Amino acid sequence: MKIIVGITGGIAAYKSPELVRLMKKAGHEVRCATTEHALQFVTRATLETVSGTQLYHNLFVDNSSATEHISLKDWGDLLVVAPATANIIGKVASGIADDPLSTLLLAFSGKPVLMAPAMNSLMWSHPAVQHNIKTLKSWGIHFVGPAEGELACGTSGPGRMVEPEEIVKYIATSLHSSAQQTLSGQRWLVTAGPTYERIDSVRFIGNYSSGKMGFALAQALADAGAEVELVTGPTALSISHPRIHRTDIESAREMYTAATATYPTCHGAILSAAVADYRPSECADHKLKKQGDEGMNLTLIQNPDILASLGKIKKTGQLLIGFALETDNELQNAQGKLQRKNLDYIVMNSLRDTGAGFGTDTNKVTILGADGSRHDVGLRSKQEVAFEIVSTITS
Ligand code: CTP
Repeated sequence: MKIIVGITGGIAAYKSPELVRLMKKAGHEVRCATTEHALQFVTRATLETVSGTQLYHNLFVDNSSATEHISLKDWGDLLVVAPATANIIGKVASGIADDPLSTLLLAFSGKPVLMAPAMNSLMWSHPAVQHNIKTLKSWGIHFVGPAEGELACGTSGPGRMVEPEEIVKYIATSLHSSAQQTLSGQRWLVTAGPTYERIDSVRFIGNYSSGKMGFALAQALADAGAEVELVTGPTALSISHPRIHRTDIESAREMYTAATATYPTCHGAILSAAVADYRPSECADHKLKKQGDEGMNLTLIQNPDILASLGKIKKTGQLLIGFALETDNELQNAQGKLQRKNLDYIVMNSLRDTGAGFGTDTNKVTILGADGSRHDVGLRSKQEVAFEIVSTITS
């Protein structure tokens, strides 16, 4: 893989030459780009020696061409910013391009970017930094770390750049398919979030699904080169990727209509939405009034099972992946769903596992294949779990 290592002005920059060395050892081609401040912590000679190429650190001096950021972007499969200071994170979040690295970062749109933040704990927890990170994540930028521990300023807490070995490992496990664009030319359908089933003009039956897992899957598929049709129920999440096409729906029936219309032209579908199995048989067009002490009965009728419906129209060569959120007899129930709904894989998570399931930023899953395969993914961020799922089902 061709990797550009971006280095900014933090003390952790002293680890960057080691990062470059490990990447080269892992078989990658590496070029370095720095800010001016980075060169206060690590020398140009060191970086040029370990990478074996010329450093990109000045917009106008290094090369006769002032469009080096574009040729570098064309060259690179992946841009890794390590260390990433609060400053570079803020610049990218605000669209500022006033030096070689920030210019390259804006030009790198549509290709994978990984950041390894490093800063003082107080800076890390500042709302501005956290807000910027949230923004960058919603654009699909990956983050590894920071780690907790002793910091250069003498304090201790979150803010240390993760070790170079961990960055190299993250690239191998989570970013391989993105950098290689393994799904280029494919079209995928993803369902995400909850569904809302209306009771009257102001009330609904819903669930706690946040949509995070489905959005992370859409991101992972798009990063790997696929065009993604993301059909989502109501969620506060935003996503921005040139290859993700989002359709917002509210009810299970609307999701069913969108999914069944889209699936026939897709290579595969991952259905991660928490679809309501039932809906009120009637929806009042006004706000229902209280009905007194005797209570109120709602009659519920069954919604279409979207996953099972896609399983029925699945053609040879098409993939279909479902989720199973279970509380008891997890394995047995998930395997039953895999066969009943004609799936290629089922991603099982258990509500009994801490950190797994609705609303959390993490998940812990087991991917079961129709061929009898089983792949356990330990507690990881939903982004990392999404990459594991995508690489398992497409390998
Ligand atoms: N699903 C769906 N349409 C539905 C219900 C579920 O597409 N009406 C999909 C979900 O997106 C998920 C999978 O089916 O991928 C599993 O959903 P789950 O509720 O666990 O399974 P059910 O078949 O509804 O079984 P049960 O509720 O009995 O566990």
